[in-house]
Amino acid sequence: MKKIIIINGPNLNLLGKREPTIYGSNSFEDFFNELKKKYPTVELEYFQSNIEGELINKLHEVGFDYDGIILNAAAYTHTSVGIGDAVKAIETPVVEVHISNIHAREEFRHVSYIAPNAKGVLFGFGLQGYELALKSFL
Ligand code: DQA
Repeated sequence: MKKIIIINGPNLNLLGKREPTIYGSNSFEDFFNELKKKYPTVELEYFQSNIEGELINKLHEVGFDYDGIILNAAAYTHTSVGIGDAVKAIETPVVEVHISNIHAREEFRHVSYIAPNAKGVLFGFGLQGYELALKSFL
């Protein structure tokens, strides 16, 4: 069974409540439970943190034996050399996901410290982007 983890960064615990016109009105937990039901042959895990170092620790923890990492580092995407270096340091391939179309938004969101070391990047597909990323590992 393939082991895949979704890692969400800061403020994504507020999905459903936070700026629903941009991020939608579904909570991530509901979406994740549906996804697990839809892909019963995948060992699918979820981790969220608002703390940069915790995201880096999780990448180190899973990054040498999981089959895939789906990472939405949220605002840290655009600022964190540390998370970018962690993605480079690990062996498990990382697919970068963003719910919104970051290239249609403010210029500071056009920069990603993760993309250069990601297997691929998906943005602008809403929560469906996580499923597309999952499919890329199957
Ligand atoms: C986001 C886009 C980021 O620019 C923003 O800081 C987020 C969410 C997205 O999923 O669209 O928090 O990663």
